[in-house]
Parts: sequence; C-alpha cells; structure tokens
Amino acid sequence: MDSFKIVSLLLSIFVLSATVNCDSNDPDYEATIDQLIESRGFNYEKHYIETKDGYILGVYRLINPFVDQSSRSKLKPIVLQHGFLGVGADFLINAPGGNAVPCNNSTDNSSLSKLNSTENNNLGFLLANLCYDVWISNSRGNGYSRNHTTLNPDKDAEFWKYTIDDLIAYDTPAVIDYILKQTGFSSLGWIGHSQGTMIMFGLLSEKPEYSAKVKPFIALAPVFYVQHMKKAFKYAAKIPGLLFLARTRGGEISKSSLVTNTIKKLACTTWNDEMCNALLYPFLGYDMDNVNVTRVPIYSTKIGSSTSLWNAVHFGQNINSGKFHKFDFGRFGNKRRYGQSKPPVYQLSKINSTSIALLYAKGDALSDPEDVSQLIKDIQVPLARDHCVPVPSWNHYDFLFSKDAYEYIYSIVTEILSTY
Ligand SMILES: *[C@@H]1O[C@H](CO)[C@@H](O)[C@H](O)[C@H]1NC(C)=O
Ligand SMILES: *[C@@H]1O[C@H](CO)[C@@H](O)[C@H](O)[C@H]1NC(C)=O
Ligand SMILES: *[C@@H]1O[C@H](CO)[C@@H](O)[C@H](O)[C@H]1NC(C)=O
Ligand SMILES: *[C@@H]1O[C@H](CO)[C@@H](O)[C@H](O)[C@H]1NC(C)=O
Ligand SMILES: *[C@@H]1O[C@H](CO)[C@@H](O)[C@H](O)[C@H]1NC(C)=O
Ligand SMILES: *[C@@H]1O[C@H](CO)[C@@H](O)[C@H](O)[C@H]1NC(C)=O
Ligand SMILES: *[C@@H]1O[C@H](CO)[C@@H](O)[C@H](O)[C@H]1NC(C)=O
Repeated sequence: MDSFKIVSLLLSIFVLSATVNCDSNDPDYEATIDQLIESRGFNYEKHYIETKDGYILGVYRLINPFVDQSSRSKLKPIVLQHGFLGVGADFLINAPGGNAVPCNNSTDNSSLSKLNSTENNNLGFLLANLCYDVWISNSRGNGYSRNHTTLNPDKDAEFWKYTIDDLIAYDTPAVIDYILKQTGFSSLGWIGHSQGTMIMFGLLSEKPEYSAKVKPFIALAPVFYVQHMKKAFKYAAKIPGLLFLARTRGGEISKSSLVTNTIKKLACTTWNDEMCNALLYPFLGYDMDNVNVTRVPIYSTKIGSSTSLWNAVHFGQNINSGKFHKFDFGRFGNKRRYGQSKPPVYQLSKINSTSIALLYAKGDALSDPEDVSQLIKDIQVPLARDHCVPVPSWNHYDFLFSKDAYEYIYSIVTEILSTY
C-alpha cells in the first residue's frame, strides 16, 4: 500500500460512521443524549463543568423520576466515561428499552433478574433503575463539550491543541471533583470504556490521591499500552511523516470536515462496499456475532464524534513506542515543555488503588490481550476483579453495543458495584 492509501485508511476509520451507507427509521437513530434520556421516561440535569484550562464540558445527570427528591441525595454517584471519538450516548443506545422504573436497592438480585434483555442492555438506564446517581461525561471537543471560556472551537486553532494528557490533567479531575462537591459524597464509581479507562489509569498514576475518590474504577476494554493495537492503526502510525505532519497541522477530526468527506467518498466509491464494511471490523468484529445487526446504523452515528487530531497522533506515538508516554512534541518542544528531550512516561507502579476492576476480551482488536497482560503486570497493587469475557469473538465495542452486554458485562458491573 502506498502511503496515501494508508493515510486514507486511518482517516476513514475515524469517520467510519460516515462510510456506512445506511439509514434507519428507528427513533434512536441520530438521537441526541437529551432525546435518548427523555425517550426512556427519565429526566436529566445538564451540568457545565469547567476545567482549570478553561474547557467547558457538557455532563448529563440522569434523574429517575420515581425517586423522590429527598432520597436522591443518598444515591451513590457513578460516572460513565466514553472512549476515543465517543460520546456519552454510547451508554444509552445499545437496545430499544431501558425505560425508567421505580428504583430498588441495587444489591437486590431478584429484582435485577426480573429485568429482560432489552430493559437492562443500556448501562446508563440500567444503573439509574438500580438506585445509582448516574453522570454521563463528555470529553473536551466532542459535540457536547465544544465549549471554552475564551476560545472558539470554530475559529481558534488553539482550542484543538489538546491530547490525552489534557484529558488526564484537566477533564478527569474536574469531573470527579465537581460531582463529589455536588453530591457531598467522598467517593464515586468510575466506569470507563477504552480511552475512558486510559485517562483514569493516567490520573491514578499522576495523582494517586485520587484513588480515595474513585471507588471502584471499572475498566471496560481497558487501554493503556497500545503497541499491539493491530490492524490499520499500526501501519498508519508507523509512517513518521504522517505523525509529524498531523502534529504540525493539528486541528479537529470530525464527521463534516473536508478531509473526512473526501475520505468518505474515496472509501465508498473508489473502494467497494466490502471495503466500507471492513472499516467496521476493528470496532465490531468481522462477523458481528454479538451485535444486533439491525441497530448498526444507530451505533455508527455514535462512533466517530469529533476530537483533536493531536489526540489521534498521541495514540500513534504510543503505538510506535510501545509505552504510554506524554505527547511527544519533538526534541526541542519536549525540552521546553518537560525539561527533557523525551516525553515522560506514565508510571503504573505509582497506582495504589485497590478498587480497580478490569473486564477485557481475548478477541478485542483494539484492547489487545498482550497489552492488557502488560498492564496487569505493571499495576503492582492487587486488582479488585480480573475478568476475561468468555466469548472468543467478543470485540471492543461489544462492551457497549452487544445484544448480550447485560449477560456478559453489565451483570458483572452491577455485582462489583454492589460491593462498594
Ligand atoms: C439497601 O440494602 C442494604 C443492604 O442490604 C441496606 O443496608 C440499605 O439500608 C438498603 N437501602 C435501602 C434504601 O433500602
Ligand atoms: C447476587 O448475585 C451474585 C452474583 O450472581 C451472587 O454472588 C450473590 O450471592 C447474590 N446475592 C444474593 C443475596 O442472592
Ligand atoms: C422495583 O420494584 C418495583 C415494585 O416491586 C418493580 O415494579 C420494579 O420493576 C423494580 N425495579 C427494578 C429496577 O427492579
Ligand atoms: C421486556 O419487557 C417489556 C416490558 O416489561 C416488554 O414490553 C417486552 O416485550 C419484553 N421483552 C422481551 C424480549 O421479553
Ligand atoms: C457553554 O457553556 C456555558 C456555561 O458556561 C453554557 O451556558 C452554554 O450553553 C455552553 N454552550 C455550548 C454550545 O455548549
Ligand atoms: C495513595 O497514595 C497517595 C499519594 O501518595 C496517598 O495520599 C494516599 O493516601 C494513598 N492511598 C492509599 C489507599 O494507599
Ligand atoms: C434489534 O434492533 C432493532 C432496531 O433497533 C430493534 O427493533 C430490536 O428490538 C432489537 N432487538 C433486541 C433484542 O434488542
């Protein structure tokens, strides 16, 4: 493959949503978080959480209307944190059901077992029906968090100069501290998917005192080392010129940009449909064994929200280096920024939380088993739970978008939560 094609491939994965040529009449198709929440009979509060560097994050708090005001303050807060190119809606769209019902004590197994698969397959609604105070976060730059105290995301290139390091240093602690302040709780549960786990591993390495505030941390499809993140990403990341170019240029990756539209045309007209569908592979698996195929158009509108190009470059750098280090600005940039020529590495050995649960799968192309083994080895404290999903074809997005998500993932999540 020549480098142009490889670049295209990488970019087309960023916009795979746009490459799926199907529409849907389903009411969840292209629904916003607000609409999804209301469609299930829940209410919500929208909170604007300001980070220390001026970004404003749109965070949703699910309100179960059957819980009276006075009892609400007793519900344990849980944050749901989406991954790379994700949005909070990822936790709300897996299945059609999930309507609000009177919330029962979450340790009550028998009420749980009465729920059927459409009712309990959306993690956000499930937890709100089980007496948790559910907060749905949106990382800087996605459609709900394109906001800043002074910068304009449409005009100021400066807005898009952020990487995973900033999600770790600013977004994550801002969300945690804000919610603890609002609720008066001393700790909250954090359930992250993919990059949503990476930023918590990063925070707990950099600021171990947060282990007292995050109990438990449940990592779905954990990502920390990405060296073995196979398939398309790896080859694209290996082109030194590409990373350099993308780093120098910066900016936004989104569905509507010129580049992504060009790629969409390229992928869907120059290449055939099969190629288009193959782009879904790293996300949902070749055969989509575990997925309700009728809902793929709905999922695809949610994978591929916007982020900064630098965020993607950062992934590329870490795929190349096999480490999880801070953004590499080049020798001179690093000296200026970090006082050393190489970017500093996040040190898992600094983590002292004993409330970490990992749920991963052997067939996950993006959270590769070898990378997960290395992660487990390097976390030196004992894990609260080490769970490998017993389904060989389980893939990265099956943690969110599988018809069996309750059976294999959420039932374990609720069990873990009930012990905190
Ligand atoms: C829920 O169950 C726990 C353990 O059985 C009990 O301590 C607690 O009071 C119950 N909470 C409510 C709201 O019923
Ligand atoms: C609830 O379910 C979990 C997991 O299935 C089990 O370990 C636990 O014993 C159950 N508790 C009760 C009270 O049935
Ligand atoms: C809670 O209990 C009520 C009344 O028993 C029941 O209708 C409802 O489905 C239960 N909710 C959950 C989430 O189990
Ligand atoms: C799940 O329960 C809802 C309401 O209780 C019902 O309408 C629906 O048909 C059930 N679905 C299945 C698959 O049993
Ligand atoms: C930006 O944040 C402010 C609160 O600081 C809020 O009033 C406004 O609606 C937000 N704008 C967008 C586009 O999210
Ligand atoms: C983890 O380390 C931090 C910083 O050294 C410390 O404040 C905290 O008490 C430690 N927590 C535990 C559970 O050991
Ligand atoms: C599969 O998706 C379709 C379209 O949204 C929906 O009508 C159907 O109920 C879903 N099936 C299950 C088991 O969730």
